[in-house]
Amino acid sequence: MESLLHFTGRLHPVVVHLPIGTFVLLAVAEGVGWLRPSTRLTPSQRTVVLAVGLVSALAAAGFGWLLARAGDYDATLLERHRWLGTGFAGLALVLFLLRTRPRAYAVALVTSLALLGAAGHVGGSLTHGSDFLTWAAPTSPTPVYTAPGEAKVFDDVVHPILKARCVACHGPAKSQGDLRYDTRDFVLKGGKSGPLFKPGPPPSSLLLKRIHLPLEAKEHMPPKGKPQLTDDEVALLEWWIDAGAPVEGRVADFAPSTPVMDLVAARVGVPPAPLPDRAAMLGAAVRLEQQLGLVLRPLSQDGPWLAGNARLRRPPFGDADLAALAPVAGALVWLDLGETAVTDAGLAGLAAMKHLRRLQLDHTAVTGAGLAHLAGLPQLESLNLVGTSLTDADVPALARLPRLRTLYVWNTAVSDEALAELARLRTDSRKILRWRADISDLEARIHSETFKVHRGAPLPPAPVSTPAPVPAP
Ligand code: HEC
Repeated sequence: MESLLHFTGRLHPVVVHLPIGTFVLLAVAEGVGWLRPSTRLTPSQRTVVLAVGLVSALAAAGFGWLLARAGDYDATLLERHRWLGTGFAGLALVLFLLRTRPRAYAVALVTSLALLGAAGHVGGSLTHGSDFLTWAAPTSPTPVYTAPGEAKVFDDVVHPILKARCVACHGPAKSQGDLRYDTRDFVLKGGKSGPLFKPGPPPSSLLLKRIHLPLEAKEHMPPKGKPQLTDDEVALLEWWIDAGAPVEGRVADFAPSTPVMDLVAARVGVPPAPLPDRAAMLGAAVRLEQQLGLVLRPLSQDGPWLAGNARLRRPPFGDADLAALAPVAGALVWLDLGETAVTDAGLAGLAAMKHLRRLQLDHTAVTGAGLAHLAGLPQLESLNLVGTSLTDADVPALARLPRLRTLYVWNTAVSDEALAELARLRTDSRKILRWRADISDLEARIHSETFKVHRGAPLPPAPVSTPAPVPAP
């Protein structure tokens, strides 16, 4: 019964448009009739319109009372809306009764329209937030940045997402779960379950937990049927929580990965760097192959991307040859410099290869000093240093390569301890701990969803699997 009443209450926002339309139409018809008496409504037409208006106004008011019992609305706004709406329904009845007395009818019609406008406005504030109309109005000019790293983490990136997707229910008009996201103080304060973010292992955030729940789950945010977060918005919120949910500072201060930087760039409107031109790159590649004797081949049918291989050239490829690759530097994605004569100094030429993903430097004279030139390569994922004079002292420089995922160091002096330390530095254990916590939550949900049947003696408890330890952050 309670849920049926609740459901019926939800008809209020639908039904409420009927009296609004009817009374506005009536006012227009009466206004036109007053100016041009020939078009005036006949008494029976007026009675029909008023009857439709009256019945729908009473229905809307009734559903409104039911909805108010169930909803979690701002109390002051709700009371105001309740009495304005009820008052309007009462006035609709008065209007119906006065329909044959022109002067009193005119006064009542004007009054009821004013009441209708006020009730509608407060109702809109209840559902959309009191500043619904002004939110969209441009307040301050959108900041212009030349690089995405300059954008303010909270004000430019995170808060606009929360404002767009959450503030309607977690803001000044409604604060569901005692949670508000309209100012940074409220964001940090959190809701009835406590603060936004609990640091320390495992760092957890109710915000991420709620948005990661399946859409069907009752606690999924934003609730099903409401505008949802896009994948990009979720990725940005995840990055923000992982960075410790900062409300001050610029994006670059929190060392985002390249994909996150691209998302920020798209949000703050920084144009992406232009791609190299395919025809120009292929033309230069053919010229350089003849001039330098290495292999430079396109990687795909339509992109500008190139793979370069200098390993087999005799006499070996050296620093001057590497510098001569400058015209195609922006298009090189793979580069094999293994067994060549390149040195630390020559690696300076790699700094311009912003799209380089795979680099082979095995069996060269390169040392840790040369690796400093790789620090600015945002895409480098795989690095081969087999057979070089790499030592433990060079490991910190490797830890700073932002996207490195695979490293080959066979036949070097690097110790197992240094490699374990590198793996520890490069594994985001906070993220893994958070996923583990999500897994335990899901396991608990599976457990509570499972139907169990027992006959006879209770079964021994199932063995509990303990996850492998994660290195402390
Ligand atoms: C359509 C309304 C609506 C929207 C939009 C909405 N929420 Fe909620 N939210 C609720 C309601 C209702 C509750 C309280 C009931 C509950 O805990 O599930 C709630 C509770 C929460 C809680 C738990 C608060 C606590 O401390 O227990 C979090 C966290 C939350 N929402 C996050 C979000 C985030 C993040 C967004 C935007 C991405 C969002 N919500 C958008 C309606 C909404």
